[in-house]
Amino acid sequence: MRLHIWKIVFVIVCNVIHFAISVELLSIGAAAVVGVGSFIYQNTLCRLKECCTKNEIPADFDKLEQLLDEKVYGQHLAKETIVNALRGHWSDNYESPKALTLSFHGWPGGGKNYIAGFIKDSLYALGSKSDHVHHFMGRIHFPEVARTQEYQDNLYQWIKGNVTRCQKQLFIFDEVNKMPPKVLNVIKPMIDYNQDVEKVDYRKAIFIFLSNTGESLITEKAIQLWKSGVRREDVGLKDFESVITMGAFNEEGGFHHSDTIKSNLIDHYIPFLPMEHEHVRLCIIDQFKLRSVLEPKEEHIQEVMDFVEWGPLPDNLYSKTGCKRLSQKVAMTVQKYRIREKAIEKSSEKTNS
Ligand SMILES: *[C@@H]1O[C@H](CO)[C@@H](O)[C@H](O)[C@H]1NC(C)=O
Repeated sequence: MRLHIWKIVFVIVCNVIHFAISVELLSIGAAAVVGVGSFIYQNTLCRLKECCTKNEIPADFDKLEQLLDEKVYGQHLAKETIVNALRGHWSDNYESPKALTLSFHGWPGGGKNYIAGFIKDSLYALGSKSDHVHHFMGRIHFPEVARTQEYQDNLYQWIKGNVTRCQKQLFIFDEVNKMPPKVLNVIKPMIDYNQDVEKVDYRKAIFIFLSNTGESLITEKAIQLWKSGVRREDVGLKDFESVITMGAFNEEGGFHHSDTIKSNLIDHYIPFLPMEHEHVRLCIIDQFKLRSVLEPKEEHIQEVMDFVEWGPLPDNLYSKTGCKRLSQKVAMTVQKYRIREKAIEKSSEKTNS
């Protein structure tokens, strides 16, 4: 930390000297000043307060695709839709007519937050620490129905203030089903087809809503497709879209009879399918790898699998908690058998990051 401060001081001093020299050079040429100016901008101002350029917002969609391919199991539908929607939204040769709005639905542990994390990390250099990334939790940020008006006023000001500063903002609303029903109505003009609202252009912003609403309907639909012999990989978005809108609309929470849904302002409803045995297994193996057990024994994998609860009856196809809470179980198993690390070298993903 201290070192870091000295580094910043050093950079500032260097830049002041640079600046002094550049003032000298003023008489020589304005072009030089422009160059030094942008150098100073990047190295001082942008260090003190996050800027809004390609440096801070690299928007690396190839990286996102790769992360999702490597780390998320059984959600091909979500992966594909999300990557394409985001890539399209911030594409240089397309002006989107409205802010992008994605709504993630499904069982806990299906990967909604996990994927949201990868989105933050690949769009912004600072990931979740970026000033351009906002993550609101239903129960924590908006606990009381009686304070709905206050929440709405704050939200409006925050979104407006941040988008005014930099258009490429990411707003994530987690636990939408735990939010008071009307809070989200306030963002309607910002996600609608408006060139600007009170002179602020929201069309480059991204809004992602996460909720468990529709989970039982998604599961029912998944079972139905499974019974009729449709392979999971062949399931399409259209199989689920109407099911989820219905679920979000009828269940309690942030989208309950909300204007947002009524006026069709959500661009994509994205179902997170419940996790099957094979997906949970892959998550478990990943957890072992994170603990440097690169080739876990079958019996140890099985021991963790035995902790997982499956449902719904009678088929018990899916993990009730997806891939959640596996890490503690794996940790315990590793300790219990004092499993030795097979290889000294860390897995490649660790050295890369
Ligand atoms: C930006 O959003 C945050 C909440 O994430 C808020 O605290 C802050 O005041 C906002 N900034 C502006 C300039 O409105």
